[in-house]
Amino acid sequence: MPDKTRSHRDDILAIDFGTSNSTVGHATPAGAVLLAVEDRHVTIPSAIFFNIEEERLQFGRDAIAAYTQHYEGRLLRALKSVLGSALIDETTPIGSHRIAFKDIIGLFLRHLKAKAEAQLGREVEAAVLGRPVWFVDNDAKRDKTAQDQLEAIARSCGFKHVDFQYEPIAAALDYESRVAKDELALIADLGGGTADISIVNVSPARHRKADRKADVLANAGVHVGGTDYDKRLSLQQVMPHLGYKTCQREHPGRELPASVYFDLATWHRIVLLNGNGSATFLKEMQHLAAQPALVHRLQRVVRERSGHQLAGDVETAKIALSESQRATLELPYVDADLAIELSRPGFEAATAGETRKITDSIGECLRQAGVAPGAIATLFLTGGTSAIPAVRAACRATVPQAKLVEGDRFGSVGLGLAIHAGVQAGAH
Ligand SMILES: Nc1ncnc2c1ncn2[C@@H]1O[C@H](COP(=O)(O)OP(=O)(O)OP(=O)(O)O)[C@@H](O)[C@H]1O
Ligand SMILES: [Mg+2]
Repeated sequence: MPDKTRSHRDDILAIDFGTSNSTVGHATPAGAVLLAVEDRHVTIPSAIFFNIEEERLQFGRDAIAAYTQHYEGRLLRALKSVLGSALIDETTPIGSHRIAFKDIIGLFLRHLKAKAEAQLGREVEAAVLGRPVWFVDNDAKRDKTAQDQLEAIARSCGFKHVDFQYEPIAAALDYESRVAKDELALIADLGGGTADISIVNVSPARHRKADRKADVLANAGVHVGGTDYDKRLSLQQVMPHLGYKTCQREHPGRELPASVYFDLATWHRIVLLNGNGSATFLKEMQHLAAQPALVHRLQRVVRERSGHQLAGDVETAKIALSESQRATLELPYVDADLAIELSRPGFEAATAGETRKITDSIGECLRQAGVAPGAIATLFLTGGTSAIPAVRAACRATVPQAKLVEGDRFGSVGLGLAIHAGVQAGAH
């Protein structure tokens, strides 16, 4: 039985609801810990599968496995990207029902809460949630709406007290737990959906102080993350094999409509292709196409609901290019012999604009803080996208004298949120 007596404001779950991966942390007397949220894993892919065939919900790796095993159902990923977008107020068909995107995010958060509570053996009514510096780039009003949406969803899951902390500040707290003396650090959390930057005076002496406002010199961020790298790679190197940017038969100067390719290359929009109108639209595209065989591949991917498999294979190839100069993307479910050769220089060229946006954001953060690049002692990098060699090199070049420290790519923000939760609990 859950111990309700301990269910109060000081017992806080620290939730890093990430675009790609999520964690739940908790402060213990011995320090901050991440709880196991899927079997023994402390991370869980932010994925949910409505298994229509077996009439059940699956989450994380289990959700992705069920989709891969071709169970009849619907997979949704990158749900955080829906916050602040027009989609948040929309519904999507799941079997014979329509479900609102905000309710789907709620199901995921509820699952995280239940997993954490099962491990702790009690209910927890307070949460501190990580948030990017901007849910919606440089638009304070829509950004606030996005945070309010997430707060309302968390409350609907049973959290009575909901606080937020910037993800890069959380990462800074994780880094701070390991430093011996004060220093000025530039923290970059480069995730699946956003790049978030903070410039912080890290200080072991002030580590457990509740009010650290004076130590945070600036925060900046941009809506660019690993899912954008996936999208760019897909649009540049994969979608042309499915007809993207090819011409219309009767208007050789005109390209086929692009929207369906954008949806297919954008993690959180893939589910939209399941709608009733897609088949008709794709039939019309095939009539229009100068190369109908390519559109036939597109039709097959949509009809067989292979969109997430394709996005996942593009992501896997992207990750392989962090280790090697070349990768082969074999796509037999698109067309029997389709194999696309990818190169690291090709990937870097395709995504140079994304990388530039991240370094621009670092520049903006330095400007806001009013510090010269040479004053930064440490560049602390975390988040999955910081594994991309070109991204790492570009970030280093913004503060060339700084020492590079790499955090636990998938755990730093979560651990830092748990440290923050512990300080908050102690502060009441
Ligand atoms: N070795 C790698 N090389 C390149 N990219 C990688 C690598 N490993 C993971 N990634 C990418 O990192 C991203 C996920 O990172 P992370 O888990 O930090 O994001 P998140 O916390 O879920 O997102 P956000 O904080 O932006 O909401 C994915 O896009 C994934 O493809
Ligand atoms: Mg993150």
